Amino acid sequence: MEDLSTIILAAGKGTRMKSDLVKVLHPLLGVPMLSYPIDLSLNGINSGKTIVVVGYQGEKIRAHFIDDRLTFVDQGDPIGTGHAVLCTEDHLKGFKGRVLILCGDVPLLKRDTVRRFIDAHKSSGSTITVMTAILEDPAGYGRIVRMDGGLIRRIVEEKDASPPEMAIREVNAGIYCVDSPFLFEALRRVSTDNAQGEYYLTDIVAIANQQGKRAYGFAVEDPTEVMGINTRVDLAKADEILRNELLTQMMLDGVTIVDPKTTYIDKTVRVGRDTTIYPNCYLQGETIIGERCIVEPNSQITDSKISGDVVIKTSSVIAESTIEDGASIGPFARLRPGTVVKRTARIGNFVEVKKSVIGEGSKANHLTYLGDTTVGKGVNVGAGTITCNYDGKKKHPTVIEDDVFVGSNVELVAPVTVKKGSTIGAGSTITKDVPEDALAISRSKQKTIRGWKQRKATRK
Ligand code: UD1
Ligand code: CA
Repeated sequence: MEDLSTIILAAGKGTRMKSDLVKVLHPLLGVPMLSYPIDLSLNGINSGKTIVVVGYQGEKIRAHFIDDRLTFVDQGDPIGTGHAVLCTEDHLKGFKGRVLILCGDVPLLKRDTVRRFIDAHKSSGSTITVMTAILEDPAGYGRIVRMDGGLIRRIVEEKDASPPEMAIREVNAGIYCVDSPFLFEALRRVSTDNAQGEYYLTDIVAIANQQGKRAYGFAVEDPTEVMGINTRVDLAKADEILRNELLTQMMLDGVTIVDPKTTYIDKTVRVGRDTTIYPNCYLQGETIIGERCIVEPNSQITDSKISGDVVIKTSSVIAESTIEDGASIGPFARLRPGTVVKRTARIGNFVEVKKSVIGEGSKANHLTYLGDTTVGKGVNVGAGTITCNYDGKKKHPTVIEDDVFVGSNVELVAPVTVKKGSTIGAGSTITKDVPEDALAISRSKQKTIRGWKQRKATRK
């Protein structure tokens, strides 16, 4: 929409969050709250321009949203919503279209609602349209003073309201559509003559009426959409609502979620059809899970790519890893960053893998640590195998080539290579490279003393 520009207000600190982090960077479904209005503007309604007004921790906010389509404006001290909008004037010089004003702390607003809101602005022939909501408890919001025929006379902030105005249950959602030339002309007339000594954006409604222009009120059907996040209690409520929506959509798209109440999936995660997610799982960040996978209870998967038909058994923790088709992980496995598990390979219980490739069909089923290791195809890594990859200063690589059999309780002291087809005897400490098809064994010879029990008895 070339004739539409969006301004997103995000200069406030968010005092009621009681946080060192600026309010709009607090996460909802794993992404900052501010990304919701930004996404709405950029992708939901294709706004010609998107201007974000920042102030408190502005640099931190900018660093989170690197996108050519965004313009950031620094308000300095947040001395009112009217002043915040006025700060964008230089970027909208000569713009004759409409300006959509959104709030950085109103994340639940839906694309379709905003589209209907913009359409209502156009079709009502208004100069300004205000999004409103009718609430059981209007406390804290600006009140809408109506005229006849859907029009608004003025908006009165709670701190400036008379007792009859306080009783009004229709409130200002803080979202506006305004004809650009009028907006900036009106903002220059806004004063700080009010209870808070701030430049109120809301005053432009009364200014429109003084000039004989129309100010229209668009009431949303579902007031939760315009809920503002002011405290961490609001944050938790909003997160629950968004999570419910996301999981519902996933289920409608063919994912089985056994218990949506205890399943936590970030907005950025993709899950394929016929995959089943059991309770108390956390799927986070840039994670992609393919089709027909099973993710058993209490698993946490972060920034990982999982192909089809993979089974993640109970209580596994996976970060920045890649798992190919038909592989099986866990229960109680930990895959750390840089792990690649190739097709049909198996990582079993109490196995930790870091920055390693596990080749096709290979197995490390029990109590093992593999770090900085390349494992070929068809390898069996016995229970209790440890790659000693760290000498106290540096990390060193281990290579285990195709079809190697590593017996139980083996230490591989890196750097070391075990060539194709070799066997490592159980209990060995391997410090030298092993050639192809060899047997390497390093353990002291067993000594057996017969009749030991009787000898001990006679000594007593
Ligand atoms: C504002 C409205 C109120 C409405 C409510 C809806 C005004 C005067 N009042 O009140 O009618 O019911 O929103 O949530 O507009 N901001 C800036 N710069 C500033 C001040 C605020 O960028 O100088 C930003 C904040 O970061 C926030 C938004 O504007 O994202 C709203 O500001 P806030 O102080 O929360 O306004 P309210 O008092 O809630
Ligand atoms: Ca607010």
